[in-house]
Amino acid sequence: MELWLTEHAKGKEFGVLLAEKKALRQVLGLDPQIQKIAGREKFEARETQSIFLLNGALGFERFMVVGVSEKNATAEKIRRATGMAVRTAQFFKAKKISFISPKTPSVRELEAGRAIAEAGVLANYSFQKYKTKKEEQKSLLETIELEGKFSTGDEKELRDAFLVCKNANMCRDLINDNSQTVTPALIESKARETAKKTGLKIKVFGEKDLRKMKMGLFLAVSQANTTPPRMVVLEWNGDRQSKNKTVLVGKGICFDTGGLDLKPGSSMETMRQDMAGAATVLGVLKTCAELKIKKNIVGILGLTENLIGEKSYRQGDVLTSMKGLTVENNSTDAEGRLVLADCLYYGATAFDPTLIVSIATLTGNVRQCLGSAVAGFCSTEERTAEKIMHAADKTGELAWRMPLNEDYLAETKSQRADLRSTNKCKTNGMIYGAAFLSNFVEEKPYLHIDIAGTAFLEELPRAYLETGATGYGVRLLVEMLGK
Ligand code: BES
Ligand code: ZN
Ligand code: ZN
Repeated sequence: MELWLTEHAKGKEFGVLLAEKKALRQVLGLDPQIQKIAGREKFEARETQSIFLLNGALGFERFMVVGVSEKNATAEKIRRATGMAVRTAQFFKAKKISFISPKTPSVRELEAGRAIAEAGVLANYSFQKYKTKKEEQKSLLETIELEGKFSTGDEKELRDAFLVCKNANMCRDLINDNSQTVTPALIESKARETAKKTGLKIKVFGEKDLRKMKMGLFLAVSQANTTPPRMVVLEWNGDRQSKNKTVLVGKGICFDTGGLDLKPGSSMETMRQDMAGAATVLGVLKTCAELKIKKNIVGILGLTENLIGEKSYRQGDVLTSMKGLTVENNSTDAEGRLVLADCLYYGATAFDPTLIVSIATLTGNVRQCLGSAVAGFCSTEERTAEKIMHAADKTGELAWRMPLNEDYLAETKSQRADLRSTNKCKTNGMIYGAAFLSNFVEEKPYLHIDIAGTAFLEELPRAYLETGATGYGVRLLVEMLGK
């Protein structure tokens, strides 16, 4: 999809006006047709309330007024209303959608424009690779036109936001596709292609390298693989003056059967999503390079599978990590933390980061706590926690802080080895995961984000996201890192 920025919308096909109640009078004054239909429908610009002018208005063949809020509009409310407009335009098989200047006085013009651009791209995404019948495919928009008085700086901000969302859609493609297509090898080639195009530095560690590095936890998970594991390291050095460096580590389990602790079929069905963390990190690094952000960022993708077979790693066995700490493997379904532990230790020791982040579909527990609308995170630093909450608020990719303290850390000790991979009392699963991982970050400021609930919508679509992969995390992390 293309983004057009214009002072006067030139499109004729499908016009949209987003409005909040405060500006209702202004909206009604725009066109007698709007006034007539709005009166008939008792339109008050409430959230999700909309009116539709089939015979058009203001020079458009079809025109829609979408309510944003009865009280104060917010960027997120504008995104939701945009999703509704985009879906309607798709239904009418429009190729171009034109948003005339929104009447949402509670939100600055640039911020409103940004929300429209973002939700426009995200709502215009549909995974249709396996829909063989053209008539069954959703008709997608080709152009989104945004009317407004934008300065050159504003235009850059809008185009940047648009690009971030396109990269989120790239992640969604990787997560939605088959697990036997999106293998560790495929993600590696996607990363190589991205690096070549954008100038990111890339280094790939194959199975032999992982062995040399003594990544015993990572390798144990990979024992029954059909495609060999690998660790992909991407680097963006946007600020050579600064010593600050953020390392992002993503869980990339291309399929999680649970291993010998086999998952029931119903929970296994969507386990192709278990590489969402790695896909997110790839999307973030791609964005850093494309936007040439002035920060130093490293992305580490821990790519493998968790399959079942005679070579599968086993419950109860003690494994040795790259760090040297031994880990009692209490469940072969707690594979993510094993892969991440070795990758985090590598990241913390090889790059001496000022912040190290893990992002992973790590536990079902986070979904039980927070559902699919909010991710859980743990942070060792107040400032980082504040930063991520701020980024969550700005992007609408919400996150909620969970505690991390010495008592939780003490739970990770094992009687038989140094650490236990899972919690003996089977409680506080998400926090336990974070506490376990924090043993491997070498005291670096640490942020762990569990996206097992937010990476994938299993049933209902959301205002501007269809069911399936959401791309959660790309916008959030890019916002948190800053430009
Ligand atoms: N990949 C799963 C977590 C998951 C669940 C992701 C639902 C997406 C949706 C993870 O590897 C897992 O199975 N975790 C176990 C950990 C337990 C054995 C401590 C879980 O959550 O049950
Ligand atoms: Zn698992
Ligand atoms: Zn998993």
